[in-house]
Amino acid sequence: MLPMRIAIRRARLSEVPRLSRLLGLIWRKTFSGLLSRRAIREVSRRWHSGKHLAGQVLDRECFFGVAEDGRGRILGLTTLRRTGRSCAFMLRLYVRPGCQGAGLGERLLSAGWRACPGLRRMRLEVLSGNPRAIAFYRRHGFRRVGRRREPLGEEALELVVMEKRVPLAQAKPRD
Ligand SMILES: CC(C)(COP(=O)(O)OP(=O)(O)OC[C@H]1O[C@@H](n2cnc3c(N)ncnc32)[C@H](O)[C@@H]1OP(=O)(O)O)[C@@H](O)C(=O)NCCC(=O)NCCS
Repeated sequence: MLPMRIAIRRARLSEVPRLSRLLGLIWRKTFSGLLSRRAIREVSRRWHSGKHLAGQVLDRECFFGVAEDGRGRILGLTTLRRTGRSCAFMLRLYVRPGCQGAGLGERLLSAGWRACPGLRRMRLEVLSGNPRAIAFYRRHGFRRVGRRREPLGEEALELVVMEKRVPLAQAKPRD
């Protein structure tokens, strides 16, 4: 069960080391049956390093949101980058193990949409071997639009590209 009080807010630069550790933990827990240890280490080296995350926290085109409980524990995170006036790419959406399946992913996803007023199209990439996440995105209106292969040393990540479009009326910021 999730704690009662959860706030979703922008990540701070001082939190980057914690975020980096949390991402490493989630990847090891979620993907160790799917990817080799070496591949997971390489992912963390490329995309979870302090330098990489700090760049996204400071990037004005990015929304880097974290979900924090009343005791200051980070339970989940999401990062979106605007790729056009009405388009964004979701770089990540993760919920801490033990807190999954209780609605936090949905809340983080909504917070990302709200943080980008006028957004009409969102894309993301998800590992093709992660059916639960694919089901989650489907349930939230994403449709598969392609595949991509991301080389990773001697291995590769097989990715499904998904996209959600909303009509203009729904994209208008709410009062
Ligand atoms: C995918 C994820 C962000 C969804 O967030 P969440 O808070 O667990 O999801 P919600 O509670 O809002 O919604 C629950 C639904 O999400 C899906 N889901 C995906 N992964 C899940 C998980 N590990 N545990 C529980 N539900 C999961 C299920 O469809 C579930 O519906 P169900 O209970 O009817 O099966 C989160 O589970 C997660 O971080 N998983 C591990 C990392 C990951 O796969 N991230 C996505 C990478 S692209």
